[in-house]
Parts: sequence; structure tokens; C-alpha cells
Amino acid sequence: NAKKRQIENILYQRLDNRIKQLLQNIGKTGNELGFNMFVVGGFVRDLLLSRQIDDIDIVVEGDGIEFAKTYAKKEGCRINTYKKFGTAVIIYPDNFKIDVASARLEYYKTPAALPIVEKSSIKLDLARRDFTINTLAISLNPDNFGTMIDYFGANRDLKDKTIRTIHNLSFVEDPTRIFRAIKFSNRFGFKIGKVTSNLIKNAITIDCFKNLSGLRVLSELKQIFEEENPIPAIKTMESYGLEKVLHKDLTLIPNTYQLLESVNKILSWHDLLYMDEPYPRWAVYFMAMLNRCSYKVCEQICTRLNVPLRERGILLEKRYKAEKQLNLIESSSTYTKQELYWTLINFKTEYILYMMALVKDEEIKKAISNFYTHQRGIKPYIKGRDLLKLGLQPGPVFSAIIKQVLNAKLDGQLKTRKEEIQFAAAYAEKTNLLIKS
Ligand code: CTP
Repeated sequence: NAKKRQIENILYQRLDNRIKQLLQNIGKTGNELGFNMFVVGGFVRDLLLSRQIDDIDIVVEGDGIEFAKTYAKKEGCRINTYKKFGTAVIIYPDNFKIDVASARLEYYKTPAALPIVEKSSIKLDLARRDFTINTLAISLNPDNFGTMIDYFGANRDLKDKTIRTIHNLSFVEDPTRIFRAIKFSNRFGFKIGKVTSNLIKNAITIDCFKNLSGLRVLSELKQIFEEENPIPAIKTMESYGLEKVLHKDLTLIPNTYQLLESVNKILSWHDLLYMDEPYPRWAVYFMAMLNRCSYKVCEQICTRLNVPLRERGILLEKRYKAEKQLNLIESSSTYTKQELYWTLINFKTEYILYMMALVKDEEIKKAISNFYTHQRGIKPYIKGRDLLKLGLQPGPVFSAIIKQVLNAKLDGQLKTRKEEIQFAAAYAEKTNLLIKS
């Protein structure tokens, strides 16, 4: 009871009103249908670790789809259902999502004429999960709202700051969990338990990745690269020899780590200033990791990981282009601000950040940073129709003039629209482009 009160307190203190209300409503609706309702997994873990909560995962002892339909109707939500798996996603009008899964009730016939026993299947559902810290559940039915369920020592491991599997075949059954163990250990600053660490080593020794699809490995790698600082995780991966899963010739040398560190610094700088400008963060780390590999090895890594065509372009062709351009810039002593602009404007954020991490010359680094912060958003006010009004004939000449206007603007010569029009007119006059009527 004391424990229950404690969790209820945590639920009330740490959750915002909307989530609290939502959990209560879920409990009520499920209760009316005769189901036991639980919020489980990452939600409970993150709640206890006082971390930001992203997803709500609900497990229903009963029919999850029936629950989702009833709840969605009451709350005015949409749902997607997956009959085969007994799962559903409830989607609020503002796109907030709740995942629902069914843990079916299991009936056990007892000997003789005794009644059929219902076995709490939430336990079976939780037993299938990867690590103890992901096996917590909180009851949501009104009678026991806030009761925490901990069958596998999750609370102990959260206190010990340790990642542990629930059973010995966990990594053999699902080798992607090796990457997940490293991701969680890095994210929470937890150690990987000794037995668990040995299970990882054994699974790697018996070549557990042999039959694993490349895409699943890629997805886990991306998740690690999306973490705030993936470098300790990359080191842990290396300590298990996991880079060899990508390619037998892939070796991470001190230079690679230096580059990864400078990627980390640049991305922290960027993400602080441009929080709402998304870009594939994972790709910058991945590019850095591949920086020292030959084209052939990179290609083979992409093939091993089934990297989709567009992303292959990022890691191979476009990355090489960015490296080549940077070499050109670094080896030329006469690169002007304008030339830099016209070179960099062709590269998306991820390549600019990669170049900034790679560049050795501090002045060039500043210039690239200046391009990113001040210049890339500069656009001329004038449009084609302004040039038409000047009496110019449409054609390639339009973009030539607009480019000149932009150059003058980058130089700080032009401030207003009027100045731009005057400049365009003078330029056209000078270059004999004006058609007098
Ligand atoms: N899970 C698992 N084995 C996997 C992937 C997931 O057992 N290979 C289980 C985990 O126990 C997890 C649940 O499925 O609690 C949901 O997975 P996911 O959403 O990836 O986990 P989260 O813990 O929410 O992780 P994150 O915070 O990174 O979203």
C-alpha cells in the first residue's frame, strides 16, 4: 500500500494534467469493458527516472482492439487497428498517440470440477520484453489505479543502474537487443550487468547476426546515432567488436573518434540554435564513422545494411562531394565569400555540419558557420515580374541578374527592394540587356 501511494504520488507530481486525466480515462473505459488496464514499459521506466515521456504504451488484459474502439469513440480520436497482432494506435486530433496491445487472458483448467482459473497474462507479456528495466507496469483500473507491478526486479536494476536481460536466450532470440542494451546503457549512464555482458559476447561468438536483416541493424544504429551523445555507445560497440558486424575491415581509429567528437560539438551548437529545423542527425555521425573507409568498404557496408537508395546517396555520393568541395575550399587561398555561398548553398544541413566538423582551418570554419547562420536564408526581394516591369525579356538572363542582385546583397551593398530594382536596372543597362520599347 505504501508503494502504491508512492507511485500514485509520482504519477500526480511528474505527469502533466492531460496525461493524468488520460490514464484515468483509459482505466475507467477498460474497467467498464471488464478488462484490466496497464501502462507499461518505457513510460514507467522514464517516469521513475524523471525523464521526458514520449510514448504511452497500454497493455489490456482482454481485447485491446475493442478497448481502442470504445475509447476512441468516447474521446473523439481516430484509430488504426492491426487485427493480426491484436494491437491498435489511438490518435488524438492533435496527433498525440497511444499504443494499445492485447495480453489475452489465459484460462487454465484445474483438476476435477474446480472452476477455470484466469491467469494474469500481463506477466507473460512483460516476460517477453528485452530488459528488466522495461518490464514495469502500472495498473490503471479505478480500484487499483497507481499500483506498480514489478515481476522481474526492474526497481532493483533501476536503483543499481544496470541493464539486465530477463532470460539467457534474449540476445539469441533477438540480436538487435545487443544494440538496444548499448543504447539504454549510454542513454541512462547504466552499466551492462556481468551476466548480460557475457550473454552479449556469447551471442556475438555464435555469429547471431548472420541471419539478421541489414535493415534491422541499420534501424538500431540510427537510433544510437540519434542519441544526444552517441560516442560512448560507439566505444562500447567497439569493445564488443560490433563494428565488424558492419564490415570485417571497418576499424575505428583515434582519428575517427576525434572526428566524432567534433561532430558532437557542432551538432550541439546547431541543435541549440536551430531546435525546430530537423535534419538526419544520425547521418552526420554515420558519415564521420565512414570517413576513413574506402569507397568500396562503404558500399559494402551500405549493402550489408540494406541502406535505402536515398540514404545510400547521403553516405556515399553526397558525402564524397562534400569532402571534395571542402578540400577545394581548404586548398584555395582565394575563395571569396560569394564563391563560398554558391558552393555551400547546394548542400543540405547534414553536409554543412559534416564539413564544419571536418574542416581544419579555423577561418574557414567561421566562414562556413557564417554562411549557415547569416547567409543561407538571404533571398532577393525582387522577382521575375519586377524584371519584366523593367522591360526585360524573360530567359536565362533573369536568373543571371537575380544572381548578381544576390551577390551584391551578400556583400551588404543592397538593403531595400528599391535598391535591388535600381541595381538590376543599372546592371541590365550596363550589360545592354534592356530592350527599349
Ligand atoms: N522490445 C523488446 N525487444 C526489442 C524491441 C523492443 O523486447 N527488440 C520491447 C521493450 O521491452 C520495450 C517495448 O518492446 O519496452 C517497446 O519498444 P520501444 O518502443 O523500442 O522501447 P522503449 O523502451 O519505449 O524505447 P525508446 O525510449 O527508445 O522509445
